[in-house]
Amino acid sequence: MGSRRCWLYHQPGARATGESARRSRSGLVTIVFVTILKYGVIVDKRKLLIQLDSDPQPSVFDRVVAYDAGADVVMSYGGVTPDAVREMVHGAIFTRGPKDLHRTALFIGGSNVTLGEQLLAEACKHMLPQFGLRVSVLLDANGANTTAAAAVRAAARHLDLRSTKALVLGATGPVGQRVALLLARQGAEVRLGSRQESKAAKVAEALRTKIPEAKLESAAADPSGDLSSVLAERGLVVAAGTAGAILLPQSARRACSTLRVAIDLNAVPPLGIEGVGVADQGVERDGVLGYGALGVGALKMKIHKAAIARLFERNDCILDAEEVYALGEGLMS
Ligand SMILES: NC(=O)c1ccc[n+]([C@@H]2O[C@H](COP(=O)([O-])OP(=O)(O)OC[C@H]3O[C@@H](n4cnc5c(N)ncnc54)[C@H](OP(=O)(O)O)[C@@H]3O)[C@@H](O)[C@H]2O)c1
Repeated sequence: MGSRRCWLYHQPGARATGESARRSRSGLVTIVFVTILKYGVIVDKRKLLIQLDSDPQPSVFDRVVAYDAGADVVMSYGGVTPDAVREMVHGAIFTRGPKDLHRTALFIGGSNVTLGEQLLAEACKHMLPQFGLRVSVLLDANGANTTAAAAVRAAARHLDLRSTKALVLGATGPVGQRVALLLARQGAEVRLGSRQESKAAKVAEALRTKIPEAKLESAAADPSGDLSSVLAERGLVVAAGTAGAILLPQSARRACSTLRVAIDLNAVPPLGIEGVGVADQGVERDGVLGYGALGVGALKMKIHKAAIARLFERNDCILDAEEVYALGEGLMS
């Protein structure tokens, strides 16, 4: 007789016969089973991720990452427009009670980041927090939030961002804007580069409404022109230009004596920063530490998975750029 079984025979009224022990055991099993069914002690509801993608075909990448990050079921919807969001949110919040809503979450994706932002705003509008009826939401349209967060985390590994003078090239795109936002939030002095300075100035103006104390300036940055004044005094450059475009030629990079860290987010040749390898992860070249798009991508994936996992911890998280950045703390090995 194993010690785990013996305790049954020492319960009040229990007789040390094989038959009564069997009955006691089956009674106990029944009680445990009924308790599980009634109170859901063990059988938690499945973790449902509802993927709202503005592209006609919901992203396979986002779906795979969601499963890898612990979602039990991913319900993918493509071609989602803002006017469709209300019904989808209602479907999410009215089906399970408040105590189970942390096991339902929304993921907003798609290649159009502006549309993604609209879907997020719409989703937030239709939650009913006053009744506890809401679910957590992650916005990562075009991977913009996780990519920007990973880039800034990579920079923070080597630099004290509070005293860093940074240049963001391609600062008018969705990724560049987020990189600039996160750098400014960390206290860096940020110069926003665009081929048209007026576009960069508009982005700077929009960022100031979010961070009034931000140290921002705009600059015309023509990759085929003289970049020396744009790069002047910069310790960090992040190139967030469109795929397949060189934003920082090798000669300009080498001529900048203050540069310490160069991060390129373009993985499509020709790469955005000449002389930084696509897979570089803190590789030193010409005295500058470089990160390429794939080098940053490893951290981006960790942050993406951490963000999905966070969605299922509670039902009131809205994960946009800054919240996603916070999740990257400690993830860089
Ligand atoms: N690793 C990842 O997981 C990941 C995820 C998302 C994005 N990315 C990469 O991150 C980068 C930025 O993404 P995004 O979606 O923000 O890019 P995007 O919107 O396509 O372009 C960003 C900016 O690049 C500039 N640009 C456009 N065409 C150019 C050209 N021919 N020459 C020089 N500059 C040009 C534009 O700025 P101006 O007109 O103001 O000059 C534009 O606003 C891309 O390379 C993308 O592939 C990587």
